[in-house]
Amino acid sequence: MSRLLFNNGRVVHAYGIRRENILIDGEKIVTVGESVNANPADRIIDCTGKLIFPGIIDAHTHMGIPIKGGWSADDFASGSRVALHGGVTTIIDFTILEQGQSLRDSIVARRQRAERSLCDVHLHCNFTRYADELLSEIPEIIKDGITSFKVFTTYKEAGMMLPYEEIRDVARILANYGGLLMVHAEDNGSIESASQPLIRAGQTKPEYHGLSRPDTAEAKAVEQIGNIADETGVTAYIVHLSSKAGLEAGMTYKNLILETCPQYLFLTDATYQREDGRMFVASPPLRSSRDNQALFEAVLDGRIAVIGTDHCPFNLKDKPVNIPFQDIPNGMGGVETLFPVMLAHILEKDLDLSILTRTMCTNPAKIFGLYPQKGQIAEDADADMVIVDPEKITTNWVSDFLDSGRWTAFGEFPALFPEKVYRRGQLMVETGTFSSHARGRFIKAGKHTLINI
Ligand code: URP
Ligand code: ZN
Ligand code: ZN
Repeated sequence: MSRLLFNNGRVVHAYGIRRENILIDGEKIVTVGESVNANPADRIIDCTGKLIFPGIIDAHTHMGIPIKGGWSADDFASGSRVALHGGVTTIIDFTILEQGQSLRDSIVARRQRAERSLCDVHLHCNFTRYADELLSEIPEIIKDGITSFKVFTTYKEAGMMLPYEEIRDVARILANYGGLLMVHAEDNGSIESASQPLIRAGQTKPEYHGLSRPDTAEAKAVEQIGNIADETGVTAYIVHLSSKAGLEAGMTYKNLILETCPQYLFLTDATYQREDGRMFVASPPLRSSRDNQALFEAVLDGRIAVIGTDHCPFNLKDKPVNIPFQDIPNGMGGVETLFPVMLAHILEKDLDLSILTRTMCTNPAKIFGLYPQKGQIAEDADADMVIVDPEKITTNWVSDFLDSGRWTAFGEFPALFPEKVYRRGQLMVETGTFSSHARGRFIKAGKHTLINI
């Protein structure tokens, strides 16, 4: 690696776009500005006509996790490859807390798996079992650089749910030590009430998945978590918000940060009627175009702070045809298409490109304590950069998917894949071809910076 000067690109910052030159040295950005001197550079890369974004951070991935007797289709090696293809240079995944395991051991085990990642990696700590000894580990784990702890208000049958009273105890400790409470918010009681009559009546085709997990379940859990956040002073981050009802509930609380995903912005429950409808089964379910629209407006005006993917892919063979919705492994992939699909949409609608940098770079970096190292193109930040040619939107990209067995929910959408992806100064991908297979690094969190939402 050497000193590289990226000349004359349009740099998309969180606060606006500027025509700037970027000088990097090895892994770091040295200077960004209108008149960076070309002399000290070993090479000049002409970026005229190109857009340059900070490396995308996907704050919500599940690489290789067990679900309903199977495994999500990507491990850290394959998932990080497709991530980089789509401009994602940092992923934030989750630990898996096994029976009898300490939080610390769950982190060690997951970090070992994550060593195969080509992206840089950070982890959220899953808190899926309530025990005093686990609670007492939280302060040290925060000190050691993992600050976000994830709880579930559902998935009781999988042994992952914590009742609200227990979540309140976790929240109190997190509030004391500066941790963040992350929540999969769907109220389990509401889901049981909606799903049991359907199952008893044999209404178990994929289209009933949506009815089995209504938006009221999301809104109720968001309210409960909002109350816990108010009472304890913790900041709570609601993952994969899917509904207008959930959004409206979230807006009545001040300590909540909201995340959504492209599937909740662009796809509706009509997809469950398709021949491959089972492939769209994820929790929470896809909803109506009215929900899509409400969430998109909230992305545009900043009420939703982060767009992640909940990347949890399955291939066609992993979700057998004709099994009841409640047995379908839930989840879908998205890390490869996150940026290309969002970017094409924002360009086609002539919307503000900085929204992408805010929701997929700067905000997640700040919220999860990776800022200022990640999430921005600025002096001293890591040289994670995505260069795109805005003229290259295509609808004919599925055949370019790196892994041909891969199923995607977004195959019919316009997309704009990056021309070059740099991870800490290393050119990783150029027009879809890998230039390097250098592994990523585990990035510890510092203090999270609360953003103005
Ligand atoms: O259905 C989903 N979302 N699967 C992944 C696990 C989760 O709930 O995030
Ligand atoms: Zn979830
Ligand atoms: Zn998830």
